[in-house]
Amino acid sequence: MEKKAQSGHRLVLVPCPYQGHINPMLQLGTFLHSKGFSISIVHTHFNSPNPSNHPEFTFFPIPDGLIADEISSGNVVAIMFTINANCKASFKQCLTDRVTEQEPQNKITCIIYDEFMYFSESVANDLNIPRILLRTQSATNFIACNTLIRLHSKGCTSPFPDSMSLNLVPELHPLRFKDLPISIFDTLENVLKLMANGHDVRTSSAIIWNTLDCLEQSSLAQIQQQCQIPIFSIGPLHKIATAASSSSLLEEDTSCIAWLDKQSHNSVIYVSLGSLAFISEKELFEMAWGLINSRQPFLWVIRPGSVCDSDGIELLPQGFSEAVGERGCIVTWAPQMEVLAHGAVGGFWSHCGWNSTLESMSEGVPMLCRPCSSDQKVNARYVSQVWKIGLQLENELERGEIERAVKKLMVDDDGKGMRVRAKDLKEKIVVSMKGGSSYHCLNELVELIRSF
Ligand code: UDX
Repeated sequence: MEKKAQSGHRLVLVPCPYQGHINPMLQLGTFLHSKGFSISIVHTHFNSPNPSNHPEFTFFPIPDGLIADEISSGNVVAIMFTINANCKASFKQCLTDRVTEQEPQNKITCIIYDEFMYFSESVANDLNIPRILLRTQSATNFIACNTLIRLHSKGCTSPFPDSMSLNLVPELHPLRFKDLPISIFDTLENVLKLMANGHDVRTSSAIIWNTLDCLEQSSLAQIQQQCQIPIFSIGPLHKIATAASSSSLLEEDTSCIAWLDKQSHNSVIYVSLGSLAFISEKELFEMAWGLINSRQPFLWVIRPGSVCDSDGIELLPQGFSEAVGERGCIVTWAPQMEVLAHGAVGGFWSHCGWNSTLESMSEGVPMLCRPCSSDQKVNARYVSQVWKIGLQLENELERGEIERAVKKLMVDDDGKGMRVRAKDLKEKIVVSMKGGSSYHCLNELVELIRSF
């Protein structure tokens, strides 16, 4: 039974089934629901969100045609191609059923879909429903992707030779060739094909971007210049959706909050590599000893499957627990936003996924950046070189270098400067949301949707 829209406007949201995409889409849904819209979430069976966490939404699962081998391959790019090939018919059926069932005052006003769920476009067009695109990654990453597509079409292909990788990419200062958003999950050809499919906005009414003017003004202005439709930079979505419940696909271990409560102010480095990044067993060892030797308290998320497809925790070096004692806390998944907002957390060792980056900046927490793939490299470069609120671990992970980097971030003067700038940025983000650019974009977005 669908929940009635107070405003008579029903919105269909189509999230891409990965944690870093589900979160911002459901946060957007929470915000729009608070404005009186009724929200239906159409989602794949794969990585389906838990409806009981969001009783205010109506959920409609659609078959995605993924087979177990494909899922376990972890090839995100191949999985997205399969989803887009298989979901079009089932999505159309799902919407047609809704449209026929609908009372006229409760019609589907608009489809809001993740850029990687581009099958939604033709369905929206067939059914004559307006559609809006949600981009969950940074605006600068979008520009870097376009550059990558252009370089590739001119025959310049990755991996870039060593002689070139540290060179600045013309017009993308301060990005170097090594910072371009190349994915580790598939061939460059396939990744670029997926990007190009997601970049086609010809018949969209608008683009929603989970970013802010105060972070990416020049990238956003450049994109708006080339784009015929309005762009609403309304981030950070996790702060806009004040009443959002967790959308975690893994169970959050909240015991780490009690551990944080016992630590002193700004003393803890929080370590998490997001939902997809992975490391080798050797890297796990180096991280473990680097953290211990830094003598800094740490909260470390070791996600199952993130180290050589194992549980990870059992691969920690012998003697690790004894050496750490009460100074370290390890969990398999953390309530990240609560962790970053905790006064004990003074630094974030992150893979620099865009959500993690926004979440850290919103709490004024400086970062130790260790990107793994795709947009993370662009974000890491911006954190260290543009916003200057962090430092990047560039070389092979090695315990001595990790120890020095952790101390630099957490206790040295360099780190103090980064913390001051991170706090300043936090203030700018608050201003954007309270009467500033994000606030205005949100109001304009709501008006646009009401006008459909
Ligand atoms: C992926 C890509 O890696 C990222 O670069 C892209 O921008 C979005 O898609 P992911 O790797 O999961 O996302 O990183 P990120 O964007 O940071 O999203 C992870 C989300 O999971 C964050 O919202 C974070 O709060 C949450 N999280 C992470 C937890 O709730 N608990 C954890 O322990 C770790």
